[in-house]
This record gives sequence, C-alpha cells and structure tokens, in this order.
Amino acid sequence: MYFQTFVATILALHAMAAPSPSGDSEQGSGGEVVIPNDHPLIHFHGRWDASPGTWWAGSGFKLHVQDLSSLTLNLGPHTTSPLASIGVSVDYAPFYQVNVSEGVNVVPLTGNVTQDTESKSSQGKKTSVVRVNVEGWQDNRINLETIVLNKGAELLPYTPSKLAFQFIGDSLSAGQFLPQGVDQAWPFLTGEFFKAEHNVNAQPGAALSDIVSYGNEHGVSYQYFRTEDTGYFDTTDHNFTTPWNFLRDRPEPTHLVVHIGANDASQNVTAEAFVKVFTTFLGRLRGLYPTAPFFVFTPWGWPNADGSVSYYYPGAHELVVQERHEAGDLNTFLVNTTGWVTWEDVFPANQHPNVPGHQKIAGLFEHWLQSWGLRPEKEWATAL
Ligand SMILES: *[C@@H]1O[C@H](CO)[C@@H](O)[C@H](O)[C@H]1NC(C)=O
Ligand SMILES: *[C@@H]1O[C@H](CO)[C@@H](O)[C@H](O)[C@H]1NC(C)=O
Ligand SMILES: *[C@@H]1O[C@H](CO)[C@@H](O)[C@H](O)[C@H]1NC(C)=O
Ligand SMILES: *[C@@H]1O[C@H](CO)[C@@H](O)[C@H](O)[C@H]1NC(C)=O
Ligand SMILES: *[C@@H]1O[C@H](CO)[C@@H](O)[C@H](O)[C@H]1NC(C)=O
Repeated sequence: MYFQTFVATILALHAMAAPSPSGDSEQGSGGEVVIPNDHPLIHFHGRWDASPGTWWAGSGFKLHVQDLSSLTLNLGPHTTSPLASIGVSVDYAPFYQVNVSEGVNVVPLTGNVTQDTESKSSQGKKTSVVRVNVEGWQDNRINLETIVLNKGAELLPYTPSKLAFQFIGDSLSAGQFLPQGVDQAWPFLTGEFFKAEHNVNAQPGAALSDIVSYGNEHGVSYQYFRTEDTGYFDTTDHNFTTPWNFLRDRPEPTHLVVHIGANDASQNVTAEAFVKVFTTFLGRLRGLYPTAPFFVFTPWGWPNADGSVSYYYPGAHELVVQERHEAGDLNTFLVNTTGWVTWEDVFPANQHPNVPGHQKIAGLFEHWLQSWGLRPEKEWATAL
C-alpha cells in the first residue's frame, strides 16, 4: 500500500514537474495526457516570459484537442496570488471566467466536450478548440507548468486565423473596470467578430510618452517593446523587464490599432510633444510591420453627466496621421471616434466605458472596418 502510493506520487511528481525537453506529451499515472509547457502544439499568444508566464491583459494560449473531456492547468509560483482570472472559451462559444491559482486547477468545460467518451465514439471522433487568456491588466500572471488532458485526448495542431489584430492602448482598451476585463473590451470583441487572432497591449494609466504616469514607471512607447507590462515594477519575483522578441508574434499582425493619449493629456504633455512621440512610435512600428494597415483612433473623449464630452488633443491625432502620410506611409488611417461614446455608455464614477458601452464601440468599429473593406472570416481557421 505504502509502496503503491509512493510509486504513484513519484509518477505524479514526474509528470507535473519534469516536462520532457522534446516537448512531447507524456502519460500521467492515471493515463491522463500530460502536456509540458514547451509542447509545440500549444498555440501561445500575447506576451509570455521565460518562466513561462503571462503579462498584459489578453495573453494566453489555444488548444485543438481530439476527444477532450477534462482540462487541468498546473500553475507555478509566479502565478498571481491569491488568484488570476482567466477567460475560457470552448468551441468558440462566449468566454467565461475561471479563477486560477498556483497549483492544480481543474478548468470546468462547457458544451459538448463533457459528453462521456462512449456517446462520443458512437458519433465518431470529436475535436474541440479551447481558448484561454488572462483577463486582467493587473493580477494577470499565470505561470504555466503543465496542461493535463483526460486519458485518450490528443493534441492536434491549431491553425491560426489569417487575420491578426494588434491593439495598443491604455485603460480605454484594456477593459479596466469590466467584470471580465479585456474579454469584454472593444478590441477583444472586434477581434472575435472578425474571427481573428488578437493581442491587446494596453496599460491603464500609462501615457504614450515614456514618463511616469499613474503608477506606471514607463509609457507605452517604451513598454510595448518589452515582454512585461508595467506591473513588473511592483513585483518582487520579477522586478525587471526584458525585450520582446517580435518574431514570437505568430501569425504576424495583419491590422494594427492604436487608441492612446488620454494619460499624456492628463499629465500635461503638450500637444506638440504628443504628436512627435506618436509619429515616432508609428514609424518604429512600421519597421516591425511593413505591410499592416495602421488605424489611429481619435479620442472619444470623457463624457459628462450634462451630455457634453470633454475632448483632449483636438486635431492632434489627425496631425499624426498627416505626418505619417507626408513621410510616405499612406497605409495609416484615421478612425474618427467623435461622438461614439456618451454618458450612457460609461461608468459614472470614472467615465470609462461600461459593458454595453464597449459593445457599442466594437459595433461602430466593426462597421467602420467593413466600410473600409475588411470582411470577417467566414469560419474560424481551426474547424471543429
Ligand atoms: C473570481 O474572483 C473574483 C475576485 O475574487 C470574484 O469577484 C469573481 O466572482 C470570481 N469569479 C468566479 C467565476 O468565481
Ligand atoms: C453538441 O452536439 C450536437 C450534436 O453533434 C450539436 O447539434 C450541438 O449543436 C452541439 N452543441 C454545442 C454547444 O456545441
Ligand atoms: C523594483 O525595482 C525598482 C528599482 O529598479 C524599485 O524602485 C522598486 O521599488 C522595486 N519594486 C519592488 C516591489 O521591489
Ligand atoms: C496639469 O495642469 C493643470 C492645469 O494647469 C494642473 O491643475 C494639474 O495639476 C497639472 N497636472 C500635472 C500632472 O502636472
Ligand atoms: C470627426 O467627426 C466629427 C463629428 O462627425 C466631425 O465634426 C469632425 O470634423 C470629424 N473630424 C475629421 C478629422 O474628419
């Protein structure tokens, strides 16, 4: 009895703590399938450090699995304590929230995956797509050790969408104050509408200018090029920042959207300085993404209870786009969001868009993009 327990423990420890260097899956003690964090068929997206652990709202991974009935995430010590909230979507159904912590996390699965194996085999093999991402702009670190699937499950290749959005912004894009964080924010919703891959690098409180702003040690014009969001500064286990290797963004972004400036304005950065830093930033992004169209949002402003809207940097974003055009970059477009957001669309306490407000913004931008010429994919690239 003692011996059996001992052997089982050794197997379990081996399965959990010692991923094979080749990245192959292994069999756990109960026949379950243990996927090490370096398995080539895990489709990572967003920003992951070497641990590997997430930074920035929306970072996560996708799995394409045959005969899935259970999913467990074993998370390491760099996971946010006491918990990180993740969004989970099975078979492209809406994302739901699951709270995870360091240690063993059984992720509840919705939909047809929970059917027993017998009824499934009578219908033939069933494949599932599971998408997972951290929801928060803070408390958003999951440190992935292994993924454990039910016995008989098999990891298949995930084919990413041909469309891939890269969003860059501040609290207005990060989903700050929303119950499900970035998963309910307009960038995420827009990406889903187009059946696209989507990464969101948005930092509440941060200016575009590389200045200290509302608890952010750096501005987005610096932090975008780093693996970590500015939360690194407040951590004790990872109090440093590392360069991001843009070759890891696969697929490469096909469409880039920037909505920024609210915090520069609040920090009294002059319009002239803001235009300069924005134009330089876009030039640097153009070096990374030679062919992607860039979309620059004008501010939708801060709606007030009396129905007025406080706009900042009037004309500045127009000037940024104009300067890019004059530099020969005609693949940069102004998205005029004037009037998109009213008092009804925001939380009265902080004037940030509420859940229906984000849906409204997403709808307006989706319409804008379709008028511009972009069509949603007919099907997700990884079919079920
Ligand atoms: C996750 O944790 C947050 C913070 O404690 C809580 O508000 C939320 O209800 C939890 N979500 C679920 C699905 O349990
Ligand atoms: C579950 O499977 C049945 C039969 O294959 C299908 O009609 C139904 O739409 C599926 N439901 C979900 C939530 O995928
Ligand atoms: C992180 O390091 C910086 C110096 O680079 C220091 O000012 C800051 O207090 C540190 N944060 C923590 C939480 O230790
Ligand atoms: C910006 O300027 C306004 C008006 O002069 C001032 O009240 C405010 O304190 C300044 N804010 C910062 C962060 O310097
Ligand atoms: C943006 O839209 C507003 C409201 O329709 C309009 O007044 C303004 O002229 C537009 N700005 C540009 C640059 O087209």
